[in-house]
Amino acid sequence: MNEKIVAAQWYELFNRYAGDLYPGRYTPEKCRELAEMAVEIKRLSQEKQSVIVAHNYLYPEFHEIADLIGDSLGLSLDIQKAGAKRVDFESVFFMGATAKIITGDATRVFVPDKSHIIGCSLVFGTDYGWLENWKRENPDGILVTYINSDAYTKSISDYISTSRNTDKMILMALQQFPGRKILVLPDKFLGHVMKVRALELAKQEGLAIDPDLIEIYSVRKGEYWAACYVHEQIGPDASEIALLENPDAELMIHPECGCVASCLIKLQEGKIPQGKVYFLSTQQMIGHAKRSSAKRILVATEKGMIYRLRQEVPDKEFLPVSMQAECRYMKANTFEKLLASLREDKLEIVFCNDCCDPKNSYQDDKVIHIPKSVAGKAKIAIDRMMAIQ
Ligand code: 13P
Ligand code: SF4
Repeated sequence: MNEKIVAAQWYELFNRYAGDLYPGRYTPEKCRELAEMAVEIKRLSQEKQSVIVAHNYLYPEFHEIADLIGDSLGLSLDIQKAGAKRVDFESVFFMGATAKIITGDATRVFVPDKSHIIGCSLVFGTDYGWLENWKRENPDGILVTYINSDAYTKSISDYISTSRNTDKMILMALQQFPGRKILVLPDKFLGHVMKVRALELAKQEGLAIDPDLIEIYSVRKGEYWAACYVHEQIGPDASEIALLENPDAELMIHPECGCVASCLIKLQEGKIPQGKVYFLSTQQMIGHAKRSSAKRILVATEKGMIYRLRQEVPDKEFLPVSMQAECRYMKANTFEKLLASLREDKLEIVFCNDCCDPKNSYQDDKVIHIPKSVAGKAKIAIDRMMAIQ
C-alpha cells in the first residue's frame, strides 16, 4: 500500500461517489491523512492477525480498508465463518457484542469506543421495566427481538432477528408456539412491516393466524419512542414525495423508516404502483439494485449506504431520500480510534463471571464486560436467527 497513490485514488473516488453526501470532507489533505493512517492500520491488523469488519453505514474510508463489510446478519455470519483470532468491529456496539457472543472464547473482539458513544437509539429506547411487566402479564409470551438491542434484552428474548429475516422469525415463532402471544421489539416501524409480511407468509403456508397475537412494541422511553432516530425522520410523506419528483425511479426503503406504514397503505390502495417500492435490509439493497431494470433508484436509509451502492452498481443512479439521514453513532467510528484500538489493544469485549449489573455492564478504557450468564442465554436466541437468512 503506497500512501501517496492511495491518497490520490481516494480523493478521486470519495469525491466521485460521496462528494454530495459529505460536502467538503474529502479535501486533498484529509485524503492524505486518511491514507497515512490506512497504511498503519493495515500493517497493524496484519501483525495482530485482525479481521477488520465494517457496517455499510460507515464513512467511505472504512469501506476501502475493511476485510468484511455488510449488514447485521451478513457480518454475523461472515465472522462465524472467518474463524479469526481477533476482530476489530467498526460499527455500533451491539453488533460487536453480538459478534463476541457468537464467537465466544475463540475470537477476541475489539470495538473503537464505549457503548454510549457507538450506541443506537433503539438500544437506548428499550424499557426493561416495561418488558418485565409484559412478561409477567403474558407468562407464555414470546419475544422476537431485533438485533439492534443490548445483550441483556437478547438474553430475555426467544428469537433475535434482523432487517433481513424478522418476518421469517415471526413465522417461526408462530409455528413453534401456536396460539401464543408474540411481542416484536424494539422498532415499531420495522415491527409493523414485518408483521404484515409474516401474516402474508403464514397465509402462503396455509396457516390461519389471528393478527392480534402479534403485538408491536411501541413504548416511549425519554426522548426515544421505539424507533431509530435516523430512519424515523424519513417521515410518512418523504418517500412518496421523492417518487412523485422522480416518476421513473424505484424506491428502496429500510424497514426502520418512518414512512413504511404509509407506503404499505398506499401500495394496498394502488396509489403507489406495485413493483416500485421494496423494503430491504442494507445488504439486500445491493442485490436488488444489481437485478433491477430501473436506471434511477431512490434510497431511504442512512446515507453511508449510497457510497456502497454507487460503487458496486456504477451503471445506476442512487439518490438519498434524505440528506439528513446520518447516524451519529455509526459516524463516531474514525481511523484515529481504530488505530488506537490496534496499538493499545482496547476496547476489548470480554465475558465476566457475572461481576456487574447485566443491564448496565462494567466498562473502562480497556474492556467492556458482558456477564457470562447473559451471553449464554443471548446466544440461544441469536443461534435461532443465524439459521434463517
Ligand atoms: P441492517 O442490518 O439492514 O444493515 O440494519 C442495521 C441498522 O442499524 C439499520 O439502522
Ligand atoms: Fe441505531 Fe438507527 Fe444508527 Fe441503525 S441508524 S445504528 S438503528 S441509531
